[in-house]
Amino acid sequence: MNISILGSGRVGTTLAQALAAKGHDVTLGHRDPAIGKNQWQGPPLRHASLADAAAASPLVINATPGDTALQMLQALQAPLQGKVLLDVSNATERTANGMPSGLLYPNSSLAERLQAALPQTRVVKSLNTMLFTVMAAPQSLPTPPTVFISGDDTGAKDQVKALLAELGWLAGQMLDLGGIQSARATEALILMAPYLIAARGLKPFALTVA
Ligand SMILES: NC(=O)c1ccc[n+]([C@@H]2O[C@H](COP(=O)([O-])OP(=O)(O)OC[C@H]3O[C@@H](n4cnc5c(N)ncnc54)[C@H](OP(=O)(O)O)[C@@H]3O)[C@@H](O)[C@H]2O)c1
Repeated sequence: MNISILGSGRVGTTLAQALAAKGHDVTLGHRDPAIGKNQWQGPPLRHASLADAAAASPLVINATPGDTALQMLQALQAPLQGKVLLDVSNATERTANGMPSGLLYPNSSLAERLQAALPQTRVVKSLNTMLFTVMAAPQSLPTPPTVFISGDDTGAKDQVKALLAELGWLAGQMLDLGGIQSARATEALILMAPYLIAARGLKPFALTVA
């Protein structure tokens, strides 16, 4: 399957490598594709601008900073038309050391804002409640983690669930919370991150329903 990933940071790189290893045709979207291609140290894959990457695949993953994602993705409305947009980002205010300090969209969520701004795109929120290392290695934790899924379109969520299965998630670990409004709950969980890291160090974690 053709899959595009916007952003080549920790999350984008992790997902690009895992999905390319599964045989998917991955396009990595960068703010500057020439720099992105030069700096890329993973397996060979296509590098493109954000707009070209959004146009290249039926499934597009947003792995860019949450505080700029709404504006950035709104500008990609045309290439994202008819696509499934898997949003893994968390939109928060930040302290000086870059840690999340408050929600950017209280009483709402980035995912809801994206769905409202991109009515011709099917937005699904998932993978945003864990450290990036867990996203493509869910069985690496001693406790089986949960991956939450939010979205208004059942077909789009089924596509994301199939992708999660390829990343190693078992059906029993996937928790479909319903419509896109449920993303406001999972996005708020990111506020635990600085306290978890302070309490136990930067170890892999995922928020899990037991
Ligand atoms: N890190 C985690 O463990 C984790 C866990 C759950 C969710 N998330 C969420 O996933 C998203 C990505 O996290 P990350 O840790 O991978 O971040 P990161 O390492 O900072 O990487 C983000 C990437 O997005 C691109 N980017 C940066 N600023 C941008 C802008 N203004 N517009 C468009 N693209 C921009 C850059 O790629 P190019 O240089 O190629 O343009 C950058 O490498 C964030 O929203 C974060 O909240 C992260």
